[in-house]
Amino acid sequence: MTTTLIRHGRIVTAVDDYHADLLLEDGKIAAIGRHLHVGPEVRVIDASGLIVFPGGVDVHTHLENTFGESTTCDDFESGTKSAAFGGTTTVIDFAFQNQNTSPLDAIARAQSKAAAGASIDYGFHVIVTHVDEAVLGDMRHAIRHEGVSSFKMFMAYPGTVMVDDAAIFRAMRMVGEHGGMIALHAENGTVIDLLIREALAQGHTSPKYHALTRPSILEGEATHRGIKLAELAQAPVYFVHLSAKEALAHVIEARDAGIPVFAETCPHYLFFDESVYDSDDFSLAKYVMSPPLRSREAQDALWTALKTDDLQLVSTDHCPFCMKEGHMGKVRQKMHGKDDFSKIPNGTPGLETRMTVIYDGGVRTGRISINRFVELTATAPAKLFGLFPQKGTIAVGSDADVVLFDPRTEHVISAHTHHSHCDYSLFEGHHVHGKVRKVFSRGDLIVDEDQWHGTPGRGRFLRRGEVGGY
Ligand code: URP
Ligand code: ZN
Ligand code: ZN
Repeated sequence: MTTTLIRHGRIVTAVDDYHADLLLEDGKIAAIGRHLHVGPEVRVIDASGLIVFPGGVDVHTHLENTFGESTTCDDFESGTKSAAFGGTTTVIDFAFQNQNTSPLDAIARAQSKAAAGASIDYGFHVIVTHVDEAVLGDMRHAIRHEGVSSFKMFMAYPGTVMVDDAAIFRAMRMVGEHGGMIALHAENGTVIDLLIREALAQGHTSPKYHALTRPSILEGEATHRGIKLAELAQAPVYFVHLSAKEALAHVIEARDAGIPVFAETCPHYLFFDESVYDSDDFSLAKYVMSPPLRSREAQDALWTALKTDDLQLVSTDHCPFCMKEGHMGKVRQKMHGKDDFSKIPNGTPGLETRMTVIYDGGVRTGRISINRFVELTATAPAKLFGLFPQKGTIAVGSDADVVLFDPRTEHVISAHTHHSHCDYSLFEGHHVHGKVRKVFSRGDLIVDEDQWHGTPGRGRFLRRGEVGGY
């Protein structure tokens, strides 16, 4: 393993901002100091003018995940490569428990998929779709012995993955006792289902009806319900992909009352709004994700909440489906719903652009500080999901996951140059300041400018500790 000295960089963590040298040895950060001296065998990289960030931690990705008849178009190989080019060195993806599998089987299956392809380190949340004593026992075992301490449950999508309130409450009560956490997809699924059936009966089949049938008030309602269940269960709760002002208001109220409630938002909610749903054109399928895009007012509220820690982090919900059927051999993608919006697979890509767009749209514009940027994209996710201080910071003893970022280089985002298998980017044509120049994962230089040096299978499964304690 090559030992590397990164000289003269500006090291920025969630709390620090200073110039120093950084020694990466045996996969760890071995030393930080001024004018470190090393032997001729050490690779020296000059980071003058560059910012040295901890590698990004994205706790919400869907690589090779199957929903209904559609599978996301990035597998662990393309998805983690794409992540690395964007400065993310850790992902937490999903192990899916369906009616016939136990959570432990789901973890084993997810691990075998990821092991061959991942080029960066990864962990899993289990998607729990039914709860009984055996499932609760497995979840307990997963927390204590498998390093899988968080579980996603859906309050939406009845008939497929939705669970009822009692199931959520039972799971919360158990994980609360054992150092785990439930992550909730909070939308009122049965009312949304009714609105979808009514829209289709009226002949409304185009993608914009996806948004019209998932109003923000139903995200607010489910979020409030989820908080109350967690309060009663005395367990921490985490809301994924929070988008609505109504939902945010409940999170703020609960946090102010001292209830351990946490939430993420995603780049698409910060940069796009519901005005895109302005026609019946099928091209709007690229904006079909759940929850859908919200108002400009909601967008402003999300940015404020990121600044004030009412929202704790930004993850991508990278859930890519191609617009063109057959692109790179992928089928049953967005076109699957060309005659019925409810069949369009939900989700959008974002892994490769997260760090850059949040830097450009957040730090450069003055909406958040540079330290808060690191906290939102690396430190808080690592802390909240049991990976800190191994991941999420630059400190002696932490994994040598390091990004050299050039704040001055400008570029234009395009699906033609990204490394995801997805044939579009929501940020197509966006002109941004800031570019990831080099990325180290456990001391290995895996991205060097436009060159890829990562290898599928080098990524390691991360056993996570207690979660929800941040
Ligand atoms: O539209 C979305 N968010 N798709 C991914 C699955 C989920 O609910 O996170
Ligand atoms: Zn979800
Ligand atoms: Zn998701």
